[in-house]
Amino acid sequence: MSEQTMQAVVYDEFGGPEQLVLREVAAPTPGPGEVRIRVKRAGVNPVDWKVLGGGLRGLIPHVLPIVPGWDVAGVVDALGPDVPELAVGDEVLSYARKDWVQQGTFAELVTVRVVDVARKPEGLSWDAAGALPLAGLTAERVLDAAGVSLGSTVLVHGASGGVGTLAVQLARLRGARVIGTASLSGHDRLRALGAEPVAYGDGLVDAVRALAPEGVDAVVDLVGGVMQQTLAVLAEGGRHASIADHAAGEHGGRWVWVRPDGPRLETLAQRVADGELDVEIAGSFPLADVAGAFAQSMSGTTRGKLVIHVAD
Ligand SMILES: NC(=O)c1ccc[n+]([C@@H]2O[C@H](COP(=O)([O-])OP(=O)(O)OC[C@H]3O[C@@H](n4cnc5c(N)ncnc54)[C@H](OP(=O)(O)O)[C@@H]3O)[C@@H](O)[C@H]2O)c1
Repeated sequence: MSEQTMQAVVYDEFGGPEQLVLREVAAPTPGPGEVRIRVKRAGVNPVDWKVLGGGLRGLIPHVLPIVPGWDVAGVVDALGPDVPELAVGDEVLSYARKDWVQQGTFAELVTVRVVDVARKPEGLSWDAAGALPLAGLTAERVLDAAGVSLGSTVLVHGASGGVGTLAVQLARLRGARVIGTASLSGHDRLRALGAEPVAYGDGLVDAVRALAPEGVDAVVDLVGGVMQQTLAVLAEGGRHASIADHAAGEHGGRWVWVRPDGPRLETLAQRVADGELDVEIAGSFPLADVAGAFAQSMSGTTRGKLVIHVAD
């Protein structure tokens, strides 16, 4: 291995963005079935600051110090044993979550299981490649879980966020009619994506019932805390799924926790490259300002995706 160390954002204890430090750490070495990626972009997701806050300790093991970040786009820089699928120099992207939290993507180098890696198609920008993985795979899985297909009418709670903007577009591509919740200032954007916008909060049930008097076939919850409204707008036999409400199963729905999936990500990436799917970039931050990106994400007002620009 040519390099022994790298720059990475690290935290030594759980807390807030003030825990994040950019420092020199040991470069990771790819194990069997893994590649090492030289990072160009790393997408930011709310889960990154939830992990930093210690909120996922019951769900997955953590090993401090932690390099945060689960989304990556970059160039394969080294191969572990038994990786015939890829070569050094390949351009790739990945939702790079492992079975424990320790070495993430807000770093110059990261190792990833080859099965979790997608080849970056020509024509896909580095920003979009870094922003797509976790949010895109989540959008697909939650639409699957709610049974969204040709002819469905689906309500998307939280349609203007990182997952929401992709879920709206993917539902439309499946041939569904989409009603999406967002603040008023996001309604034009939702219309442009093919959704019928409604405001969230009081009045939501009436607004949805006005658009779909028989109720909707599916509800996709990307915000949490909306179970009563979900049940009130669902048609008889309708399905619902949430990425933000662990108790969805207790109300006849499904809770979804996204898994890495290289082949599915490659299909999504191709759709973006082909212009079928738009990945809206809401902001770009340098590796030295992951704290700024987290502060923006924590505001809950981000429209689209935030990315960390690690290298040109
Ligand atoms: N289980 C999983 O596998 C999984 C995967 C990905 C994400 N998640 C979780 O899902 C949530 C969404 O993720 P994300 O990446 O899309 O977040 P995000 O991009 O930060 O979402 C921001 C958006 O949330 C909207 N919003 C806030 N409160 C809302 C409400 N009460 N009703 C409707 N919209 C509301 C805002 O819309 P306006 O600006 O229009 O107000 C904003 O556009 C996060 O909690 C995240 O941790 C879970």
